[in-house]
Amino acid sequence: MKARAWIMLVLAVAVISMSGCKKKETPVKAPEVKPEAKEIGQMSANKESFGKTPDGKQVDLYILTNNSGITAKITNFGGIVVSLEVPDRDGNLADITLGFDKLDGYLGEHPYFGAIVGRYANRIGKAEFKLDGKVYKLAANNDENHLHGGIKGFDKVVWRLEDIGVNAEGAMVKLSYISQDGEEGYPGNLACSVIYTLTEDDKLKISYEAETDKKTVVNLTNHAYYNLAGQGNGDILGHELTINADKYTVVDEGLIPTGENRNVKGTPMDFTTAMTIGSRIAQVEGGYDHNYVLNSGGGTLALAVKVHEPTSGRIMEIHTDQPGVQFYTGNFLDGSIKGKAGKVYQKHYGFCLETQHFPDSPNKPDFPSVVLNPGQKYATQTVHRFYTK
Ligand code: GLA
Repeated sequence: MKARAWIMLVLAVAVISMSGCKKKETPVKAPEVKPEAKEIGQMSANKESFGKTPDGKQVDLYILTNNSGITAKITNFGGIVVSLEVPDRDGNLADITLGFDKLDGYLGEHPYFGAIVGRYANRIGKAEFKLDGKVYKLAANNDENHLHGGIKGFDKVVWRLEDIGVNAEGAMVKLSYISQDGEEGYPGNLACSVIYTLTEDDKLKISYEAETDKKTVVNLTNHAYYNLAGQGNGDILGHELTINADKYTVVDEGLIPTGENRNVKGTPMDFTTAMTIGSRIAQVEGGYDHNYVLNSGGGTLALAVKVHEPTSGRIMEIHTDQPGVQFYTGNFLDGSIKGKAGKVYQKHYGFCLETQHFPDSPNKPDFPSVVLNPGQKYATQTVHRFYTK
């Protein structure tokens, strides 16, 4: 009898402890890598070494070229667009993005030149948000607020090469990154990928995808700084800008939206018709660093922005399915950074147009949702189209 009682006791303990056991979350796996460089005509996608991170990780440079001679160089460190050479109206190429010639520059402190920003691009107020009643604390890396994914955001990690080559759409490179559950304070293992495609018709497409195994928030963008006259070639105040947005999100002194979306009409914020960036910048305290509420409302690819640089004739259009775009005029550039070809980046030497969901959306129930649930797919696209006049 005694032995039977013991067996029953052991069985009961085993059953209780098994049922109490937390189900192990299986991290979302990235697909197999098949790196391969192919060429069709002049269109090509090639890979070369860009160096190593201090902890010994190999970093590469992917070179996408199309028939018009447009060349985009992208690295798997931060998914950064290292350079983008585009012809002017006479066919002369110039690199129109700010950054560094070498990996070393990107390994140091810099203001997100060309980088993929995530898990949440832009700001989250007081560096926290709630999901299903649970508070998630993030790094306060912008005074009391959270900016661009935290201390080690997606801009500072080594992405994995998934694919490189030429397909029906153009020359492409696909990178992936798995952000672990709890990384920078965010819940859920998030498997992300970014595809850069340079098309025959002079578009640079950026496609973002993500899946999670726990409810989380996601907002991915690219933080390239542009100067369509050529990087380091003066300020961007003479560029003519059109933004398809009647409203912008009003912010407090910490650049966190107050919740009010204000009409741009009759204010220096109005770019509904082409205006030079510099025409009213003096009336905007600190310069432009605002989220525009795109008239398209997001959801489908639509023309959001057009920028024209009159001396070179270069034009860049931005089409996106995102509801907002952060227009930032390089207000914090101050001549302390020496960039590509020895160029020194002074204030307003570049502008950013970061397509995105609105800042602080995780704490603003009235803003379009940034919540991603397990089983759902985050899939967004931004297309940069280049031509001249
Ligand atoms: C974004 C922000 C700016 C600034 C830059 C990086 O565009 O909105 O306030 O932080 O990034 O310097």
